[in-house]
Amino acid sequence: MTTTKKRNRAGSKLKRRLSGVLALGVALVSAGGLYTLLTPEPQTAEAQAEPALVRQGEQLYNNACISCHGQNLQGVQDRGPSLVGAGEAATHFQVATGRMPMVRQEAQAQRKPPKFTPEEIDALGAFVQARGGGPESPENAGEGLAQADPARGGELFRLNCASCHNFTGRGIAMSSGKFAPNLDESDPRVIHEAMLTGPQNMPKFSDRQLTPEEKKDIIAYVESVTNGNNNPGGSTGVGGYGPASEMIIAWVVGMGALIGITLWIGARA
Ligand code: HEC
Ligand code: HEC
Repeated sequence: MTTTKKRNRAGSKLKRRLSGVLALGVALVSAGGLYTLLTPEPQTAEAQAEPALVRQGEQLYNNACISCHGQNLQGVQDRGPSLVGAGEAATHFQVATGRMPMVRQEAQAQRKPPKFTPEEIDALGAFVQARGGGPESPENAGEGLAQADPARGGELFRLNCASCHNFTGRGIAMSSGKFAPNLDESDPRVIHEAMLTGPQNMPKFSDRQLTPEEKKDIIAYVESVTNGNNNPGGSTGVGGYGPASEMIIAWVVGMGALIGITLWIGARA
């Protein structure tokens, strides 16, 4: 009698130990998985995506831009300026606001619905950036606006922008068919890019003239006076994180379930 009891106890001890080892194994695997998922993956993914993106951008450029900006971004006389040094920021600004590709010679490229998808615009930006260098696009310009100071932004706007864009971003006509546009449709990224790249007659505002924080305050101010009616849920750049964060959530939930089952088996044993 005593021997069977002992054997039973020894058996359940072994089971408990086994399930403990199993739980540890699952925890280790999941920690490793979480690590590869969260840390090096985004970088390697970006590094791998980059050449393909640049190649896609080159194709789009050769179809839609080369006639005015030249084979090596050097520009074409009487058609379009050099894009060397224009960078991803100017490219995204010009193409996302539909100003480029320009359809005909006019005093000033007009804002139009964009001709390219966001992915294609990213590709064009990557190509111009890789070929000619220049300021990179502030992709996260829409983040952290809730913590910005729109009152200070309003002061900075009146000092630096209102002479052309009016106090509330309504825009005004300038000489010879040029105009400073209404900012109603400008999303945070476009506003930041406009300041960085100074399109047409607009001056450039480097990060030394207006620090990144001051630019954020200005963006928050513009968004408040235009009621942010330009971004119905998404031009803030959060959308870009969609698939990745969904994957992480699905993975964490799945792993959690696995660990739960292991612990449950362990407890039963
Ligand atoms: C019909 C000619 C034409 C075509 C096609 C065209 N552009 Fe332009 N582009 C211009 C002209 C002219 C300007 C300068 C006038 C202006 O900014 O309003 C300009 C300006 C730009 C600028 C601003 C440069 C700077 O220094 O800030 C960028 C960036 C740009 N183009 C990118 C593109 C891209 C990308 C395409 C293709 C998707 C394209 N353009 C197609 C004529 C053209
Ligand atoms: C000297 C006049 C001038 C000043 C000062 C100026 N801008 Fe502009 N701005 C312009 C002009 C002109 C354009 C149109 C450029 C084009 O169409 O290529 C423009 C375009 C823009 C756009 C793009 C609008 C869109 O969505 O199509 C934004 C955003 C903008 N400005 C913001 C600002 C901010 C913010 C400041 C102050 C930090 C500022 N501007 C100062 C003249 C000015």
